[in-house]
Amino acid sequence: VTRCELVAVRGVPLPSDTAELWGQIWGFQARPDDLLICTYPKAGTTWIQEIVDMIQQDGDPQKCCRAPIYERIPFLELCPPRPLPRGFEEAAAMPPPRTLKTHLPLELVPPSFWEQDCKVIYVARNPKDNAVSYFHFQRMNQSLPAPGRWDQYLQTFVAGGVPWGSWFDHVRAWWDARDEHRILYLFYEDIKQDLRGEIQKVGRFLGRELPEPVLETIVERTSFESMRENPMANYSTLPPFVFDHAVSPFMRKGTVGDWTTQFTVAQSEWFDAEWAQRMEGSDLRFCTRL
Ligand code: A3P
Repeated sequence: VTRCELVAVRGVPLPSDTAELWGQIWGFQARPDDLLICTYPKAGTTWIQEIVDMIQQDGDPQKCCRAPIYERIPFLELCPPRPLPRGFEEAAAMPPPRTLKTHLPLELVPPSFWEQDCKVIYVARNPKDNAVSYFHFQRMNQSLPAPGRWDQYLQTFVAGGVPWGSWFDHVRAWWDARDEHRILYLFYEDIKQDLRGEIQKVGRFLGRELPEPVLETIVERTSFESMRENPMANYSTLPPFVFDHAVSPFMRKGTVGDWTTQFTVAQSEWFDAEWAQRMEGSDLRFCTRL
């Protein structure tokens, strides 16, 4: 594996392999019964994927342990080197009803998802924890650009120069679109604070009954501690030349407020000013501590 370059697709920096095959990704044919899980990277994608899959499998742990999470739910725009399958090809070969994952900003989502009126679950995470998580992820994920030093990385993050572009643009555009489409907009911090309640919310959105024992199992199996130990959820099944957990584990901390151990006071103040400016006019609010 070599660390990829980023190439802009309509102004959004994406891994070069994704950019090269952009025409095929943009032309992806969605079906009306597709469910799209969308996040900015490191907002809790794997967490919501596991919650959704467990709901869809009626809380049966055996079914959820059938394969690693990245094999159960294709990652639409991921284009790994051959012979590994590309996300959109895996998705095309999958029997309906399909659940798919993407990190694409709203304007880059293939238009067929809107034409087919697909349901979307979006998860957003406060930008300080999101940036810290992404920094450590780019250290351990050997296929993404190396993040460099933290202070430099934080500036790149704010400027939108990281893979999948600006956090601010991403969360904002999806927020503004939430009433125009069938979008359930969730927050990492809410799931952390009330896992049971947020699982029930997802269940209602998917039109699924969650009897108490099923709900109980899902709550247990999607706690940070359970997922960290679960090889089907923690990405330990990928070889270390792809994800090097010795550098930083994929299931790293799983908390709200870890940013306080990484940001200096000056960095936090600078970030707050940038945040206020970039989110001006938006009613989207985040909590950075529980
Ligand atoms: P940290 O790096 O802050 O620990 P993604 O799946 O989008 O790549 O996001 C990964 C982040 O979600 C990591 O954050 C990871 O620890 C956290 N995460 C994954 N499963 C979780 C869970 N069950 N509870 C809380 N956080 C979880």
